[in-house]
Formats: sequence, structure tokens, C-alpha cells
Amino acid sequence: MLVFKTVRELQQFLSTVASNSIGFVPTMGALHQGHLSLIEKSQQQNELTVCSVFVNPTQFNNKEDLLNYPRNISADIQFLACFDCDNEEKRVVLFLPSENEIYPNKIEKNYDFGNLSLVMEAQHRPGHFNGVAMVIERFFDIVQPTKAYFGEKDFQQLAVVRNLVKQLNLSVQIIGCPIVREANNLAMSSRNERLTPEQKEQAANIYKFLQHAKQHAKTLTVEEVKNNFVDSIKNIPTLQLEYFEIADGNTLLSINNWSETNYCVAFVAVFVGNVRLIDNVTLHKD
Ligand code: PAF
Repeated sequence: MLVFKTVRELQQFLSTVASNSIGFVPTMGALHQGHLSLIEKSQQQNELTVCSVFVNPTQFNNKEDLLNYPRNISADIQFLACFDCDNEEKRVVLFLPSENEIYPNKIEKNYDFGNLSLVMEAQHRPGHFNGVAMVIERFFDIVQPTKAYFGEKDFQQLAVVRNLVKQLNLSVQIIGCPIVREANNLAMSSRNERLTPEQKEQAANIYKFLQHAKQHAKTLTVEEVKNNFVDSIKNIPTLQLEYFEIADGNTLLSINNWSETNYCVAFVAVFVGNVRLIDNVTLHKD
């Protein structure tokens, strides 16, 4: 598999391959089955896939979280090697830039995503989406992808990226890919690596309670569904709820009545020990 560490090398390579379509899969490494689904989708839809591994410092509002973020580049390279990376019809190359390559001028940009940068993740991780937007704008500029792939686990991030593309009038098509879950239904995340087996079992309750919420959507009120979810999490002492929201899947504005939207999504952030996990489930989409 080809690995590029500088913008110049990558762009030189991209200018020599006669590829009609470039798929881009941005990651922060610690690759897992969720990333695999993004790369496979990109391989199906493009002749060339650029996968990046870059732990983006600007999107971490918490230094500790940045320090603890799992990094294992040799495992990531081994993981990517399973993808038939050098097959010319569905080639995958790795972009592994340093911080200097991505932020040579160290100039901070400021974005306004309206409500998307005020609620849920944005409220609890100030500056997070600004950092995501900075790195994604930079990556899109470097790679000039036809399509870019993002997991729906980071639902709000996906909405922010779509908004960024619209604001900047970019031609890249953003493809959202379904959440991939572990055998116990815990949403796949690089952060899961930091959970003990017991914590993983406890974290499986997050999805179980989201499913309860889905079952009772429309038969109970929004408030009752929310209260039930909060109470269920409280009964598991190792889980600390940060937020649980029921919101419109397009605007991410929280709702009080089911009739306010025909696309309704439940969003949750939970700490298991010091590991922060997020998940979401569509309650209804008519
Ligand atoms: O979802 C992630 O892993 C990151 O936020 C992303 C999209 C790679 C940007 O750093």
C-alpha cells in the first residue's frame, strides 16, 4: 500500500493517476470495522480511495482526551493491508500527515454552523466542530475528493460537514454510512479500545435503552421517553449520562411533541469510567 506523509507527495501522486473518482475517508486512526465499512463503500464507488490517519488536535477541547486518544499506526497499516489496496480498480492509499503539513500557518479559522454548533456535542465540547471543520476543509482542499465518507455514529459531525460543504459551495458529495455495532450492539468507536470487558458489557445497555425509546416513541410522550431513558441509565452505576436528546434529524433542534417532525432521532452521550461514548437511533422517519 502506498503511504504519503506530505501534501506534496500525495498531490504529485494524485496528479499522475488517471482516476475519474476519488473517494476520501478521513480518520483519526485506531481503525475498526466501522472504518472498514466506509473504506469498502468508497472502494465500491471510486477507483481510488484516500484514507487519512491524523489525530486532529484542533478538535479536542480536552487535553487529556487528546493525550489518551488511541494511536497505533502499525496496526492501522496492517488493517488497511487487508483491503486489496494495490488493486488498480479499487486502490487505497494512506495519507499520514504531520501537524505541520495540515496546519503550516497555524491560523485558526472560525465557522458558524448556526444551531448545529450550539446543541449536544457542540454544547459539551466547545470548539470541537470548529476544529473538525478546519481539518476537513484543509483535507478537501488537499485531496479534492469526488465523494467523502462519514459514519452516522457522529451524526452531528455529518450534519456539520454537509453544512460546511454547502457554505463553501464545494463539489464533493458527502456520503453518510450506517453505524456498525459490536456483537453486543455497542456502536463501534476507536474509544471502545479503552474499555475493559466489563465496561463494554455495561456500555451495551446504551443501545438497549435507545431501542426501548424507539419502541415507546409515539405511545409515550417525548418527556416520558426521555425520563425513562435517564432513569434506566441511572440504574447502571458505571454509566454517567452527559445528555439524552430527542431532536429533529435535519435541524437537530430538540422536540417536545412527536408531531413536530417526521424525522426524529434520539441522541446520547455517556461516560463509562473516563471514556466518553456517543450513539444515536432514528425513532421515526416518515
Ligand atoms: O470522525 C473522526 O474520526 C474525525 O472527527 C475526523 C472526521 C477524521 C476529523 O478529524
